[in-house]
Amino acid sequence: RPALSMHAVDGLVLEDVPLNAIADALGTPTWVMSAGTLRARYRRLATAFEGTDTPVSIHFAVKANDHLAVLRVLAAEGAGADVVSGGELRRAMAAGIPACRIVFSGVGKTADEMRLALRAGIAQINVESAEELDLLSAVAVDEGLDAPVALRINPDVDAGTHAKITTGLATNKFGIPYNRAADLYAHAAALPGIRAVGLAMHIGSQITRMQPYRTAYAKLAELVRTIRARGLAVDVLDCGGGLGISYRDESEGAPEALASAIHTELGDLGTRLAIEPGRWLAGPAGVLLSTVILRKSGYDGMPPFLVLDAAMNDLMRPSLYDAWHGILPLSPTEAFAPVEQVHVVGPVCESGDTFGHDRSLPHMKAGSRLALLDCGAYGMVMSSTYNARPLAAQVMVDGNRWSVIRDRQQTEALWAADRIPEWVDTALL
Ligand code: LLP
Repeated sequence: RPALSMHAVDGLVLEDVPLNAIADALGTPTWVMSAGTLRARYRRLATAFEGTDTPVSIHFAVKANDHLAVLRVLAAEGAGADVVSGGELRRAMAAGIPACRIVFSGVGKTADEMRLALRAGIAQINVESAEELDLLSAVAVDEGLDAPVALRINPDVDAGTHAKITTGLATNKFGIPYNRAADLYAHAAALPGIRAVGLAMHIGSQITRMQPYRTAYAKLAELVRTIRARGLAVDVLDCGGGLGISYRDESEGAPEALASAIHTELGDLGTRLAIEPGRWLAGPAGVLLSTVILRKSGYDGMPPFLVLDAAMNDLMRPSLYDAWHGILPLSPTEAFAPVEQVHVVGPVCESGDTFGHDRSLPHMKAGSRLALLDCGAYGMVMSSTYNARPLAAQVMVDGNRWSVIRDRQQTEALWAADRIPEWVDTALL
């Protein structure tokens, strides 16, 4: 992880900022994003897709990290956005990404969300069903606008990833069944208010092998030929996101390999191409800082528990997907302390609130600080306030500068929007 380094005096440093300085100033838990890493990764991705005749537009999957500062850094590099709700669409536009560089995905867009997208002048709506297509047609006609539509196809291909983040199998809710796609495309092309511009596909997330992509894109290419044989135009192919990163010892998905797979399978069709990466761009750019509240000894012969002040409400991925996140102490002396086996847990009242079982970590004690790694994607965005735990602070680092990009939530804010009906007995108050 090139942006992280261990210094003899400062301890763990992100770009040029000692993480202890941030924890001293703000306390923990605190998320820290590296702007430099975001830029470097965007540039590597963009470079991988350059140098061919087919232009590829990059739409950052806003769901991975929707902070305005993150979106702005990527937008300044040239990124568009992939959004899945009216909220994400408005966020992306608030960050300065023009609607003409935004695509709208998702299996259940409401009529209001469609209206918002059409009025904004969205580049493309990825439609996932015949039912959605009819609704969009009605909304577009009502608005007097044309909806640029790509049909999202479910290729029934196994992405070889965790079951909860695979999206291209017949059993998944996503996309249009492959064998019905050509007919539906013809139907779309004839519908009022619909401009059929192309096809989209997204087979899953945290994909590290290229074969599933190749298989899926080959099916996509075949479909393009079938549709064109009917005399219909297919101008855009949206190849989705999903490129994986190295959380532990898996090899990171290489953008160059993905670019080669896309160009090999789809490059000669004469369409414009788009991709929707989220995790690959943002994941390695973020860490979550936390402090050990206490070391709790367990049964004899069992590893002790390091109870952190961060929990599953902050970083949900380990509870939800048994995901593995690297852990590094912030202190330079602790970084080289003898290694021991520990369970790393949060204080929330669920056994699933565990960051790692039987982890081999340098000895840490109450008050020790650590960083959970690769938290820049699907980290803060998936936080909740479960157990009445306020949302953590957020910081962005750039070179030797750092700024708070979101204040820690005030505890009172947790109930500020609650209303107690007058008919509830308030005699005790
Ligand atoms: N496009 C579409 C239509 C998607 O559904 C997704 C992610 C992406 C692009 C971006 O995929 P990426 O490049 O980030 O893999 N919360 C889970 C990941 C859920 C991904 C959902 N869809 C996790 O923490 O692993």
